[in-house]
Amino acid sequence: MKTLYFITGNEGKVIELQEKLKPLNYTILQKDLGYPELQADTLEEVATYGLNHVKASFSKPFILEDAGLFITALKGFPGVYSKFVYFTLGLGGILQLMNQYKNRQAIFRSVYGYYDGKDSIHLFNGECSGVISQEKRGSHGFGYDPIFVPNGDVRTFAELTISEKNLVSHRGRALDQLIAFLQKP
Ligand code: IMP
Repeated sequence: MKTLYFITGNEGKVIELQEKLKPLNYTILQKDLGYPELQADTLEEVATYGLNHVKASFSKPFILEDAGLFITALKGFPGVYSKFVYFTLGLGGILQLMNQYKNRQAIFRSVYGYYDGKDSIHLFNGECSGVISQEKRGSHGFGYDPIFVPNGDVRTFAELTISEKNLVSHRGRALDQLIAFLQKP
């Protein structure tokens, strides 16, 4: 059994990861070390900064993840500011903003960063396209889950089970790539 540390304060992300890694030979240990979230234009820059910051003081193999909701009509807002906007405008504020737009398309993006405990870091991307719902629905998940409906479904992320969400979500898709990488001989 191999151990992989997940540097995050978000238990929802850990639960999703554990569900996805169940069949594999990995134990996931959450470590809420905290790292500064760089004000950058891309999730890749935020994740890379976080990896370099954490690996300066933590030398075991670890992953971290940065995600954001990019709403087309709002020119990609809240994007890299998703966390700040979630705690300020909130879901109600986003729904209110969306009232003035017909186009409700949005993309969730995720970047997993992996440090091998030695010298290399790697990034893995995933995306999930969908629409912003008219109202909050569902009680599972976290964050923007109650207002995001993935393409091909009528339910919000918050109305899906963890494994249903993992099958189509941005983070599930990024994780598929990370898993493929970890399983390479
Ligand atoms: P971070 O990656 O933890 O910085 O996430 C940025 C913001 O997006 C936070 O407010 C999260 O709650 C939200 N977020 C990230 N991933 C998801 C998701 O899968 N569903 C809903 N909200 C998410």
